[in-house]
Amino acid sequence: MIPRLRPAFGLGELTAAIRPGSPADVEAFERDFAARFEAAEGVAFPYGRAALAAFLQAVGLKDAEVIAPSYTCVVVQHATVLSGNVPRFVDNTLTDYNMDLDQVAAAISERTGAIVATHLFGFPLDLDRLHAIVRDAEQRFGRKIWVIQDCAHSFGARWQGRLVCREGDTALFGLNISKVLSSIFGGMLTFNDAALAATVRAWRDAHLTPAGGLKPALRLAYLAATYPAFHSLPYGFVHWLQYKTSVLDRLTKAYHLDEAIRFPPDAGERMLPIEARVGRVQLAKYDALVAARRANAAHYTEALQGIPGWVLPPLVEGATWSHYPVRVPDRDAAVRHFAGHGVHVGEVVEYSVAHLPSYAQWAAGQELPNALLCSRHMINLPVHPQLTEAERARVVAAARGRA
Ligand SMILES: Cc1ncc(COP(=O)(O)O)c(C=O)c1O
Repeated sequence: MIPRLRPAFGLGELTAAIRPGSPADVEAFERDFAARFEAAEGVAFPYGRAALAAFLQAVGLKDAEVIAPSYTCVVVQHATVLSGNVPRFVDNTLTDYNMDLDQVAAAISERTGAIVATHLFGFPLDLDRLHAIVRDAEQRFGRKIWVIQDCAHSFGARWQGRLVCREGDTALFGLNISKVLSSIFGGMLTFNDAALAATVRAWRDAHLTPAGGLKPALRLAYLAATYPAFHSLPYGFVHWLQYKTSVLDRLTKAYHLDEAIRFPPDAGERMLPIEARVGRVQLAKYDALVAARRANAAHYTEALQGIPGWVLPPLVEGATWSHYPVRVPDRDAAVRHFAGHGVHVGEVVEYSVAHLPSYAQWAAGQELPNALLCSRHMINLPVHPQLTEAERARVVAAARGRA
């Protein structure tokens, strides 16, 4: 079965993982990461969500509203709540699935402390419009509004040639195995302002503890398991284990607690040296990884025109294609159809955060129809860099019902 994603780990990552290391590996990863994405500083965390929560606390936000799309990864709102702040939802557009900036402008109030500008699926948001909205609101309300560019899906995405990760107070990256590049788990913040980076680093060092014990060995085992697990030969079995049994729940559901507002138990521990070493190897491959994603996406867009009821993703210059999202009339039927043809398609993002029961108290009757629609109708085709031409052709044939 063709997996919906596959981390681009090769021999280099495994070799780096088994080498002895030290906390200096994390510092080296931070430096390399910052350099790669043209930032002054990088500050590493155990997860992207922990990075966001740390940022909000380090800059002193408390009881402030944090504006973010409802159609995003729920951990963004988990970080907002767990840092003592208040989620404020906005709807997304149906063109590039990013938040509707008119709604952002309308949602800002004297309580707004931050905006998480998510560049979903690798599609860059209109930066000029975002800056203008924030500037105007800061003048109106006389307070700083922190802008976090959420680049978890859009490492290196560019809007009109400009790197989106360079144009806010900080940029947030998630580094788990579903991301464009991975450090096994992990998260990173990048900064242009070295003083702000120092503030966040000091907060991290004061609040996160070094991880030890068996954790590095468990991370190594997890890394090693990804090689066979995401190979298309055994993947049918892994898929069966995941969807028909509870064997993998501890790994998958413990990480993604969509319904409960909490972090994984180790979110208060620092990034491990083993993760940093793997991340550094991945960084060196970044250009090739994104080029392969772009090629796969371009191929799909050409080959999948005219399927009744399908809405293909927009062709946005500078997008980095963490996903290839397609809106389909009946998602369950589509997922079953593809599975029957040996293709696992994703359902990301399969919820609208404001509509989750755990977030009802903050959604205050907001309808957010586009978030709801996308959460019910989106599939993602495998677009990962290791997809072979033959696999890509199988995906296209399955989509056209010919496999
Ligand atoms: C849009 C978005 N933001 C932030 C994150 C946070 O990353 P992590 O899973 O490392 O906490 C993710 C990852 O799942 C994401 O998809």
